[in-house]
Amino acid sequence: MKTFSVMLVDDEILTLSNLKKALEKEGYEIILAESGEKALDLLESSRPHLILLDLVLPGISGLEVLKKVKETDREIIVIMMSAYEILEKAVEAMKLGAYDYLLKPFKLSELKATVQRALETLSLRLRFLDEFEKQKQRYYFGKIVAQSRKMKEVLDMAARVAQSDRTTVLLQGESGTGKELLARAIHYHSPRAEKPIVAINCAAIPENLLESELFGYEAGAFTDARKRKIGLLEKADEGTVFFDEIGDMSLALQAKILRVLEDGTFVRLGGSQPIKVNIRVMAATNRDLVKETEKGNFRQDLFYRLNVVPITIPPLRERKEDIIPLVLFFMEEFNREIKRNFKGLEPEAAQALLNYSWPGNVRELRNTVERVMSLYQSENIQLQFLPQEIRQELNLPEDKVMSALTGNWPTLENLEKAYIARVLEHTGNNKSQAARILGLNPATLYRKIKSWKK
Ligand SMILES: Nc1ncnc2c1ncn2[C@@H]1O[C@H](COP(=O)(O)OP(=O)(O)O)[C@@H](O)[C@H]1O
Ligand SMILES: [Mg+2]
Repeated sequence: MKTFSVMLVDDEILTLSNLKKALEKEGYEIILAESGEKALDLLESSRPHLILLDLVLPGISGLEVLKKVKETDREIIVIMMSAYEILEKAVEAMKLGAYDYLLKPFKLSELKATVQRALETLSLRLRFLDEFEKQKQRYYFGKIVAQSRKMKEVLDMAARVAQSDRTTVLLQGESGTGKELLARAIHYHSPRAEKPIVAINCAAIPENLLESELFGYEAGAFTDARKRKIGLLEKADEGTVFFDEIGDMSLALQAKILRVLEDGTFVRLGGSQPIKVNIRVMAATNRDLVKETEKGNFRQDLFYRLNVVPITIPPLRERKEDIIPLVLFFMEEFNREIKRNFKGLEPEAAQALLNYSWPGNVRELRNTVERVMSLYQSENIQLQFLPQEIRQELNLPEDKVMSALTGNWPTLENLEKAYIARVLEHTGNNKSQAARILGLNPATLYRKIKSWKK
């Protein structure tokens, strides 16, 4: 159990010693101050969890002390002690951020109950702050690996849009590119950081359930609706709603969401009262929403509503510079988690990872690192630790090239072209790397590529 510290501020020495005795019995650590000046002085060197503060003090008044305390640290709980004659002052203190007040004379049992209740609230608050701090650390922009220029641009854009707290953000990119990670990072860097972020995976929840999850319902809205349920949109009030896989949302639900985006209101299922919420909306999808609107699968008006600040995260194969930094990043994570001592990669392993096309993007890469590290104990990741499909990419076997060319026997020139194109694809168009794989001098490779373009 945590020991809470309580500061008592009163100019009557007898009151101070009585309160001290009573609260010490409860196991609190007590700090005494016989004036407002003394209290503020002590605050320079100690931070109590709670202050019991007399309103009427000889020097600077209780209200002044309260103001100063709240300026110093607004998490400190202040309970005012006041005589009935100056009840108005106590009310004013509440407005200035006091937690509660005790009317003198009060019983010690009353004091104890009030202090205990306040500290329970504080415990909850501290737990929240602790969890919040963890989340914030976890989704810190600095922890998102971005070595490539493309990814740096994405992070830069995300950092800027985080500041404007009502702006809708649409994250597009293949599965596993880091859309959800980025959405959470934006939230935790936004002015809404201390408010909830509610994530809804539109692809994973069946349509009718999704609707009641989002909007909530009134008792009797349908057979199983015994009592009112508050929906996710209401839970996210003042915070952020993240619609993941929004491209998979049904057209009917899209229409309802559009209304929420337009005027911030909705009604619970079976209800009639419109409810207004203040939410920031972010959405993510691995579909091409422009194409989906052309096909009639996605409402154009909703698309425009969402597409205020579009951020597209490129697939990993288009930002190969991120591959090795990501491997090292995850290596550190799993060294800690599964007690390993990996330090790096053998050059062939690195080459194979660079050549592979990563259809599952960062998620696949992370899983690969985890798998290798849990199966092997070594200083470096070696080529033979890697799964077959990744190892293969180091040397393209001939039959693979041949099978890529269907139909007639290709001419030698066409075969060469196809093979080189294939290798280039695997190096993310990195020509010097491709030249190394092909055993060509880079200048020769450049010349060949140039000659095709004529
Ligand atoms: N740039 C990055 N740096 C660190 N980890 C990343 C990065 N991109 C993605 N990840 C990690 O990869 C996994 C997949 O990311 P996620 O955000 O779920 O992708 P998506 O939502 O696009 O499918 C998560 O574990 C995420 O933390
Ligand atoms: Mg996702």
